Amino acid sequence: MAKQEVILAIESSCDDTSIAIMKGNKLLSNVTSTSMKQHRKYGGIVPELASRSHCSEIDKVCTLALKEAKLTLQDLDYVAYTAEPGLVGSLHVGKVFANMLATLLNIPVIKINHMMGHAFSYFVDHDIKQLKFPVLSLVVSGGHTFIARATSPNNFKYLNESIDDAAGEALDKIGRFLGLPYPGGISIDNIYSNKKLIELAPNKPVDAPFTFSGIKTAALNMINTYKMKKQIVPVKVIASSSLEWITNDLVRKLEHYLSKYKDTKMVLVGGGVSANKLLRKKLSQIKKVKVLYPTLQYTNDNAAMIAAYARIKNK
Ligand code: KG4
Ligand code: ZN
Repeated sequence: MAKQEVILAIESSCDDTSIAIMKGNKLLSNVTSTSMKQHRKYGGIVPELASRSHCSEIDKVCTLALKEAKLTLQDLDYVAYTAEPGLVGSLHVGKVFANMLATLLNIPVIKINHMMGHAFSYFVDHDIKQLKFPVLSLVVSGGHTFIARATSPNNFKYLNESIDDAAGEALDKIGRFLGLPYPGGISIDNIYSNKKLIELAPNKPVDAPFTFSGIKTAALNMINTYKMKKQIVPVKVIASSSLEWITNDLVRKLEHYLSKYKDTKMVLVGGGVSANKLLRKKLSQIKKVKVLYPTLQYTNDNAAMIAAYARIKNK
């Protein structure tokens, strides 16, 4: 692919309608419209509301992204969109829009896996010349948590993945039980304190699959015990102890795979939970290999990461 090709990328897998435009290595725009406020009162994403919001927003977001990039549709060389995984109605809006543009402009369209977008999101605003394989990728998002090893952009193997609640989902649910604002992950990040941590659940073996439903249930049981005894629920202690358990589990497992795959050149972290301050602090203690995080604004769902991975994939 020629260096200066212009790509328009679409992300619509969940509640964010996002369109980014990249020219060569440079991100020209990344416009996002989120329906998060509409879901807040339900304490979680309502798929039908998300799909409707994508339908009403996507053309406006596209117009804004082009305007910000100072380009027109005729400048585009190809289109990329999130094809999976995600909410089916939400994904469908992005797919139809991408294919409509590609047909209209007679340019190629590329399907991107949302998780690969998170895994390589560091490269939204960092030069892909830094990318050295093999890579270990730790993606911690709302829908999925995994550690994978990539020996090339198209050769990606999951080493460990969540078998029930992902880390973000568990934090969101614990936040909801505690009466914290949605999304719980961000609320818990904001109130975390290491002052009075308690052991909510025993550690899992390092090579066991990621499972965060146990810590969620442990937190819920503790909250219920306080409520039954008509005692004040220690919100901060339970929230912080849950986050401590989850971040310890992520880091222990990553270290396990790092010692197993000694040829690893870099660790790429991504996903909404990778914005978490405690997680970043713990990961910064890993010294044997470079651990790279996306810029904060690219940790959550965004089309810029879809554009960045499309570029890496087609380099
Ligand atoms: O990757 P993402 O934007 O969406 C999915 O693909 O799932 O991740 C969303 C998740 C939510 O569960 C949210 O609570 C969590 O990321 N999250 C955080 C933080 N910011 C977002 N969790 C902990 N600390 C944060 N600062
Ligand atoms: Zn995501």
